[in-house]
Amino acid sequence: MFAVLRTSILAALMPAAVFGATQRRAIDGPFELWAYGTGIGGFPLFYSRGLAFAGNVSQFSANDSNAAIASFVTGPDNSWIASPVNATTNWNRATLFIPSTAMESSLVGFLPENSGGNASIETTGFSFYGTTAMKIEADGSLASGFTGLPVSDDVIQIFWNDTSSGQVPIALRGVAPSSPPPFIPATQLTPATGSNPGDASSAS
Ligand SMILES: *[C@@H]1O[C@H](CO)[C@@H](O)[C@H](O)[C@H]1NC(C)=O
Ligand SMILES: *[C@@H]1O[C@H](CO)[C@@H](O)[C@H](O)[C@H]1NC(C)=O
Ligand SMILES: *[C@@H]1O[C@H](CO)[C@@H](O)[C@H](O)[C@H]1NC(C)=O
Ligand SMILES: *[C@@H]1O[C@H](CO)[C@@H](O)[C@H](O)[C@H]1NC(C)=O
Ligand SMILES: *[C@@H]1O[C@H](CO)[C@@H](O)[C@H](O)[C@H]1NC(C)=O
Repeated sequence: MFAVLRTSILAALMPAAVFGATQRRAIDGPFELWAYGTGIGGFPLFYSRGLAFAGNVSQFSANDSNAAIASFVTGPDNSWIASPVNATTNWNRATLFIPSTAMESSLVGFLPENSGGNASIETTGFSFYGTTAMKIEADGSLASGFTGLPVSDDVIQIFWNDTSSGQVPIALRGVAPSSPPPFIPATQLTPATGSNPGDASSAS
């Protein structure tokens, strides 16, 4: 099933031109990720309670004041380390993970700073192929198995290699939509920096 899923993602969302090997590249960052798929026209990836979502983060703010759009930098072994955009949160420098093949859960999330990993998650080997986020497999090939499940208006939860609950294939890309969904701020988001993490009160 994964092979079919991977093919459909690549065929649907990646222009033929990006298949050249020279397109594989590392981006030092900071960069953000946006989810694209059928009916999903570029939702910004955000963090909520250690898990990955995409869409209108304001819908989660009432229940989770620490929900925030994530900005990434590349860390050791091509790990992607997330910090909140424009928000003061109880998390910072959390490492993106996908489930390992052995894991029963298929949720994509974030490993807290200074936490050791475990056998259930993979936190290394992320790369871009063109502008699309990919995972470098053990054999060196690239895979994109991200899927999204609607969990509220304008928000999807991010999964890996799982369509069993009705998830749809998505691509996570390092570029914002040229024509943003209505809830996306018209102005480009600016990544939080260490010295100026931003003002959470402006998030709504
Ligand atoms: C917030 O939590 C309450 C109680 O669990 C729930 O009823 C409500 O739907 C949640 N709101 C959002 C926006 O998730
Ligand atoms: C995807 O899940 C299937 C089982 O549903 C597993 O056999 C396969 O190895 C997984 N592939 C990846 C890349 O995680
Ligand atoms: C592995 O780490 C993730 C992220 O912190 C956590 O959600 C999960 O429960 C951990 N699994 C085990 C078996 O420790
Ligand atoms: C985003 O969600 C918030 C909270 O539910 C809502 O007030 C706002 O209208 C939404 N934005 C758009 C453009 O839908
Ligand atoms: C991000 O910060 C800038 C500068 O303070 C502000 O103009 C903008 O509205 C903020 N965006 C969000 C989504 O909070």
